[in-house]
Amino acid sequence: MADIFERLIKNYGPIGQYRERAHGYFAFPKLEGEIGSKMKFRGQEMIVWSLNNYLGLANHPEVRKADADASAKYGLALPMGARMMSGNSDLHEQLERELAAFEFKEDAILMNYGYQGIMSAIDALCGRHDVVVYDAECHACIIDALRMIPGHRFVYKHNDVEDCEKQLIRAQALIDKQASGGILVITEGVFGMAGDQGKLKEITALKKKVAFRLLVDDAHGFGTLGKTGAGAGEEQGCQDEIDLYFSTFAKSMASIGAFMAGPRTIIDYIRYNIRSQIFAKSLPMPYVVGNLKRLELIRSKPELKAKLWKNALALQNGLKEKGFDIGKTDSVVTPVYMKGGVEEATAMVMDIRENYKIFCSIVVYPVIPKGHIIYRLIPTSDHTQEEIDLTLKAFSETKAKLDAGRYQSDLIPDMANK
Ligand SMILES: Cc1ncc(COP(=O)(O)O)c(C=O)c1O
Repeated sequence: MADIFERLIKNYGPIGQYRERAHGYFAFPKLEGEIGSKMKFRGQEMIVWSLNNYLGLANHPEVRKADADASAKYGLALPMGARMMSGNSDLHEQLERELAAFEFKEDAILMNYGYQGIMSAIDALCGRHDVVVYDAECHACIIDALRMIPGHRFVYKHNDVEDCEKQLIRAQALIDKQASGGILVITEGVFGMAGDQGKLKEITALKKKVAFRLLVDDAHGFGTLGKTGAGAGEEQGCQDEIDLYFSTFAKSMASIGAFMAGPRTIIDYIRYNIRSQIFAKSLPMPYVVGNLKRLELIRSKPELKAKLWKNALALQNGLKEKGFDIGKTDSVVTPVYMKGGVEEATAMVMDIRENYKIFCSIVVYPVIPKGHIIYRLIPTSDHTQEEIDLTLKAFSETKAKLDAGRYQSDLIPDMANK
């Protein structure tokens, strides 16, 4: 009989296999100090391009004060229990009302985390005869949700509206055959890796041909896109056609938690049927008060979004001028595409960190195809033009070294904490 533990330690998985050389440096690095565009990594100050602190709220004095005051007043215990049983409060309901209004929706429901929240909401929404039609590059939380649901799922090629229509027609045929069920389309407002917006306007136009409901995960659009910061739907002029709008608080809000907004009847249905909230303790009060403050600042300080975009465009235009491929981003997420193996990519990142004092994240095989490297740069409103210029210079110099084969090696550098 095979022992499960024995099998696991024979293969630590695609990234875990590198852990002995990578832990604490390439994986599980520790950024220290106040959150901002500069932080400490292994004792050295670095310009940081890895945090989704888009609007710089993480360390905003009003946010820090609201968090601290709420922690002192309430502690982390209150309220005790799940919302449905004993864990509800006026402030939880106020945050839901304010989020709904911000998204131009009737109602909203809070969730403790984005990942488990959206999974559980999809589980609550979909029955055995329903069909989910979804974008191939949806975030892991959506893909994982689809492994749970009993209904059918048809994937369409990333942001390919023609293929989406094809899958919708297939889904409709299946529903006709079953004589039961409906269609839920799931996509993202902004795809977090490549930075391209979901084609929400074109997808919502398909409602004229096939009846469906649309759920959009707008984790990266919330606060960064649209006139008021309401996200990708507002940006593209189709917010009303999004039936269910979802965002985590982990990005622009620099916090913990998430929400889904939509018609009052459906949000109420979710409220009474979402297992991750019914069977879990509600968000502690400091999170709720802290999130109310963050939302107030997003509404009242449009200059934060303006500064974010000024920085994002300076970074993106600078990279393009220097001949870098930044793909199809039309959000602030800034990918930089290069060619190279995992070993080269890690040597290059090490050079950027140690010699240029720039901290950024890379994505390599098996997350993306072999031989490709993506740097994922996240500008924030905290960054300065000087930091952008230093980063552009570092990228030019290290790219020249990559092209000259200077990072080639058979092993990833051994940088683990010993
Ligand atoms: C698109 C998207 N959806 C959902 C989540 C999960 O949110 P959370 O961190 O609140 O669990 C993330 C990452 O944070 C994300 O990028």
